[in-house]
Amino acid sequence: MSIADSLGRPLRDLRISVTDRCNFRCRYCMPREHFGTDHEFLAREDILSYEEITTITAAMIPLGLSKIRITGGEPLIRKDIARLIEMLRALDAGMDLALTTNGVLLKRHAKTLKHAGLNRVTVSLDALDAALFQTMGDTEHTADDVLAGIDEALKVGLKVKVNTVVQRNLNESQITPIAQACFERKITPRFIEFMDVGSTNQWNYDSVVSGAEIREILSNTLGPLHSVSTGHPSDVAKLWETEHGEEIGLIQSVTSPFCGDCSRARISANGSIYTCLFATEGQDLRSLLRFGAGKQDLDQAIRSIWTSRKDRYSETRTELSQPKSKVEMSFIGG
Ligand code: GTP
Ligand code: 5AD
Ligand code: SF4
Ligand code: SF4
Repeated sequence: MSIADSLGRPLRDLRISVTDRCNFRCRYCMPREHFGTDHEFLAREDILSYEEITTITAAMIPLGLSKIRITGGEPLIRKDIARLIEMLRALDAGMDLALTTNGVLLKRHAKTLKHAGLNRVTVSLDALDAALFQTMGDTEHTADDVLAGIDEALKVGLKVKVNTVVQRNLNESQITPIAQACFERKITPRFIEFMDVGSTNQWNYDSVVSGAEIREILSNTLGPLHSVSTGHPSDVAKLWETEHGEEIGLIQSVTSPFCGDCSRARISANGSIYTCLFATEGQDLRSLLRFGAGKQDLDQAIRSIWTSRKDRYSETRTELSQPKSKVEMSFIGG
């Protein structure tokens, strides 16, 4: 039976972080000065096993889930990730199963992931320009590695979306080329307003390029864009279409928050459940599990957490003083 939170929002979407580590150090997500060699990542024993993740997911599916996303950090660096996909697929043959990745390991893993039962991947790509790509990701990898991953994913039959975080005076020049590279592959690029998630990325309002500005850049280069209605109210992207029917998504969490329809729960790699991307604290499901909780205990715990949920951070960020210790996106999962 599906459940609703205190603002009437159902629990539809589960995002599971399988690791807090990443092979990139994107300046807006894991800046190296905060995530360098002395950063303490989660210890192996603190991370949920695939069996534990599957048990939690099995308890949540009957509460109304229709979509599960595997995320990180970078999920493809976790050993044998396709085994988790297989285990989740075995729980529900019809579940929408997606994975978020920076794409550089996708060429190697796409086929196995598809065979394991994954439906789709969302690939982050912030620049095509070689130098800018490496600066933004603070990485030696290249945009060509990512494009090769995308092409392989398409080849094996995975659906693909591209996510681009746009920052002022940094990668506005990449918006149109990324859109064109996506159109060539018949996939949807989604441009994301830089968000104040976590507390290490030196976010400030001036570095946000609004969805409206992004749309203006795109319509100047690609011609007029028309709004198209989205699939579901809880979808984060507003969709637009060029005159040739090419689709573009804008994710405007800063200038046009979408908390009213937010049906997303997140599980961190160490097994806490978070009811908002901007939460300061999660609630520990791992201890429950490791103390022997069964499916019914988990069901009760999650029900109680979700039904008392009232988070709507993006709608209130201007009214509140900034919380001190917002959790990092690489930890909680994008
Ligand atoms: P689809 O299932 O393909 O619709 O995926 P999605 O849009 O739910 O997920 P994705 O991970 O691609 O989300 C894209 C971006 O939107 C994320 O990287 C975040 O930047 C942002 N985002 C996703 N969920 C939330 C949310 O709950 N709150 C806020 N503020 N931003 C979010
Ligand atoms: N603002 C917006 N999007 C972000 N992501 C990570 N940090 C931020 C941020 N501060 C996005 C990445 C990726 C997904 C995992 O989250 O670009 O698409
Ligand atoms: Fe890694 Fe993605 Fe964060 Fe970049 S945005 S550091 S690729 S988790
Ligand atoms: Fe959902 Fe929190 Fe994002 Fe609002 S800010 S859309 S409540 S995760």
